[in-house]
Order: sequence, then structure tokens, then C-alpha cells
Amino acid sequence: MTHEVVVVGSVNADLVVSVDRRPDPGETVLGSDLATYPGGKGANQAVAAARLGARTAIVARIGDDAHGGLLRDALSSAGVDLAGLLVTEGPSGVALITVGPDGDNSIIVSPGANARLLPADLDPGLLSAAVVSFQLEIPIPTVVAAAKQASDTGARVVLNLSPATAVPDELLALCDPLVVNEHEAAFLLDAEDDAAAMAAALLERGPRSVVITLGADGALTADSAGVTTVPSPKVEAVDTTGAGDAFTAALCLRLARGDALPDAARYATRVGAAAVRRPGAQSSYPSADDDLPA
Ligand code: RIB
Repeated sequence: MTHEVVVVGSVNADLVVSVDRRPDPGETVLGSDLATYPGGKGANQAVAAARLGARTAIVARIGDDAHGGLLRDALSSAGVDLAGLLVTEGPSGVALITVGPDGDNSIIVSPGANARLLPADLDPGLLSAAVVSFQLEIPIPTVVAAAKQASDTGARVVLNLSPATAVPDELLALCDPLVVNEHEAAFLLDAEDDAAAMAAALLERGPRSVVITLGADGALTADSAGVTTVPSPKVEAVDTTGAGDAFTAALCLRLARGDALPDAARYATRVGAAAVRRPGAQSSYPSADDDLPA
């Protein structure tokens, strides 16, 4: 099967507690019951893309612990091709997540098996797709090696620079687009500015195109054809966890099907908005026949 979207990235068990406010150092606060969801930026993207109808595969590592089964089942039931899902001895990735009253989240990731996805694990045959998508919860040398192999097969490389991490220029040069939020853009540029100015400065760093996500304000795209601002539908946020992953997955799907970048971003903002209306990451993602907010 030829894939429309291949995701190379992380798979985590998300351990989520809702809180009225986050503790200061040395302080204890009480929160909600613990909820455990399948997550991880890579798995979230793969599940979101598959649920929207993309022929999708994942290249990732899970552990041989109890979380590993939950994570595999979530990918499998969304219809993601698991030929590139490896199992390693030891713990799976885990994300400790607090969700505040406004649906905002704070996340600590313990990488577990994700840290053991190495360049030697890569099979070039699994990196051939219309679009190959990356994030940064796996080792950077693996991202660089896989992006080069994907690009060599003719795939379009999409990188979400999350969590914000320094990456080599050779990786930035392969991105089409580089997807960042405003904090990640400012991190990469070492300077804050308005989104259009940061997009222009990012293009000078080498990517063929840039998308800056603006949360409830939508997104901004920039490439050689110009800059486009894309508004987001207004929705009530319950939990923003994984909304950026849903956005990037939807963007990848539409780019794989030949949309121009601004059109793909218009669809992606609607999918991202849909994903903040329910708790959890993958548990909040729409399917192809769901009504999206407009
Ligand atoms: O982007 C949201 C994701 O970040 C969560 O699912 C968590 O696992 C962390 O990777």
C-alpha cells in the first residue's frame, strides 16, 4: 500500500489530572481522578490523519510494559499501518499532563522507548509517502536521518518543532513546511516579533515554507507565493491537549492530496478547533464524516 502520510515520532501514555491551579514549588494541590489516554505527538498525528481518512503509517517505538498494549491498540483501531512500530524492552513513553480550568495544559514527557528510536532502526521502504511528518520527541539524529531518506524518496517533509529544540540547518532546509507556534518560532529565532515578521525570518533560515499556529487566532502560512492569514472557527475549549497535532495531521493530509498550503491550513484550523472541544488528545479527534466547526 502506498501511504499518503507517514509519521515518524513519539508514542506516549498520557496521564492526565485536571486542576484548579498548578502547584508552586514545594506546594501540594488536589486534582481530579487520573485519566489515562493514548498520546504522544507522533501517535496523535498518525491517529488524527487516519481518522480523517488518510492512508497512514507510523515509524515509532513503544515499550513492552502495560502502556505499550494500550498505545498499539489505539493506533491499530484508528487504522494506522503498524509495520514500522517497534517494541523495545522497558517503559513506553509517558506524558504527565495537568489541565487547567481554561483547557490549557502543562506537559512533562518521560521519553522511555521513544529515546531508543535510532537511525539504525529506519527502513527507507517505510519512509516513502506523499508526506512524511516529524516532531521532536525522538532523538534528533533519527529525525535528521529519516527526513533525508524521506526527501530522497520524493516525499514532502513536514516538521513540527515541538517541543522547541535546536535542530541543524540541513533539517530546516528539508521542511515544506516547518510548523511552529509563536513560542517555538521565537525560540528558533532567539527573538520575538509579530507572526508575519517571524515567518519571514524563519524562511531565511532555509525551510521552503512556514506555518505559524496562533491558537484560537488560527494560523499564518508563508512560502514563495506569499503570506496568508487563516482565521480559526470560534469554539469553547475544554482541553487543548493534542490540538496542534491534529492541526498538523490535517495539514499533512491535505498537502498529500495536492492542496496549496493556505487551503490545507484552512482545513487544519477547523480540525484543530474540533480537537479542543473534548478531553484528551486522540479521544478528541474528529473523523472524516464529522461536522467540523466553520
Ligand atoms: O501534543 C500533545 C502530546 O504531547 C500529548 O499527547 C503528550 O503525549 C505529549 O507528547
